[in-house]
Amino acid sequence: MRFFAPALTRLALAATALTAIFLPAALAVFAAQASSKDGGAGAGAASKSYSPELVESGRSLFQQNCAFCHGKDAGGGETGPDLTRSLLVSQDVDGDRIGVVVRGGRPGKGMPAFNFTEPQIAGLAAFIHTQRNDALRQTGGRKGVEAADLQTGDAAAGERYFNGAGGCRACHSPTADLAGVASRYQGLKLEEQMLYPRHAKSRVTVTPAAGSPVTGALAYQDEFAIALIDASGQYRCWRTRDVRYKIDDPVAAHAELLPKYTDSDIHNLMAYLQTLR
Ligand code: HEC
Ligand code: HEC
Repeated sequence: MRFFAPALTRLALAATALTAIFLPAALAVFAAQASSKDGGAGAGAASKSYSPELVESGRSLFQQNCAFCHGKDAGGGETGPDLTRSLLVSQDVDGDRIGVVVRGGRPGKGMPAFNFTEPQIAGLAAFIHTQRNDALRQTGGRKGVEAADLQTGDAAAGERYFNGAGGCRACHSPTADLAGVASRYQGLKLEEQMLYPRHAKSRVTVTPAAGSPVTGALAYQDEFAIALIDASGQYRCWRTRDVRYKIDDPVAAHAELLPKYTDSDIHNLMAYLQTLR
């Protein structure tokens, strides 16, 4: 959730322009560092071992935030790739590449961004590398969450979670926006939408200097103008300098939920959502 006054927007734009100037230089330095560290897949990083404390801190962070997509052991899950076989992970040195993905996410590809500190990234990297080392030592063996797990949840428990602890009810209704969701998406696609909705429209609340706030789907935004489609379907536009406005990023709202889910919450929710046909 962000709160913009017009002056702040202008500041943000200036910052964006600065980034545009400095980013190419920063990237060039980064690329040079990366290529000097590259010894090809598996070199160096793969055999390194990490302190058990660091690995454990990374493990719990991973279980909370990453496991439902990438599997408990990082070996791939219902919606995220196997990190133990990732080329990027094999080339990572102490989180230099993993950290970039985790902090930036892969917008539009189902990987949310996480605002983690350096020590947290170091822990995650230590855990992922340790899992990779273990996986390299093992032969065969299917890891991660099976698609069949999608059928194992308890729909009634999922419904309770939806209305209660999950807080889903605050934004959704099974008879309105989520009616028929299981017909629109099946199986893994449905789970992906639940964990991290794509193509979601941001909502915005505009408060004119005189008058009551108006909420709707964000239709247009730049330095000077802000527009939305209101509940009656009407397009409404204001000059940013005349109003205050607050944009809710739906994807951010869902990403905040991720650490709260347990595996059984996910499976129960999936069982419940699959009843909404
Ligand atoms: C909502 C599901 C989801 C969550 C949660 C998630 N990821 Fe991902 N992650 C993905 C998907 C999907 C991709 C592949 C994106 C693509 O195709 O570029 C990915 C890609 C990655 C990659 C790059 C792999 C490669 O070879 O390019 C890394 C590293 C990674 N994730 C680490 C993490 C870590 C660490 C966490 C937890 C802090 C995490 N992810 C949480 C879905 C997720
Ligand atoms: C803070 C508000 C908020 C909360 C809380 C929330 N969601 Fe969402 N959710 C959204 C928004 C906004 C979208 C995007 C809707 C759109 O694009 O039409 C969305 C999308 C979805 C979708 C995809 C719907 C579709 O038609 O594509 C599913 C499924 C979903 N949420 C499930 C859940 C579940 C389950 C919970 C509780 C664990 C939850 N959401 C909690 C705001 C929320």
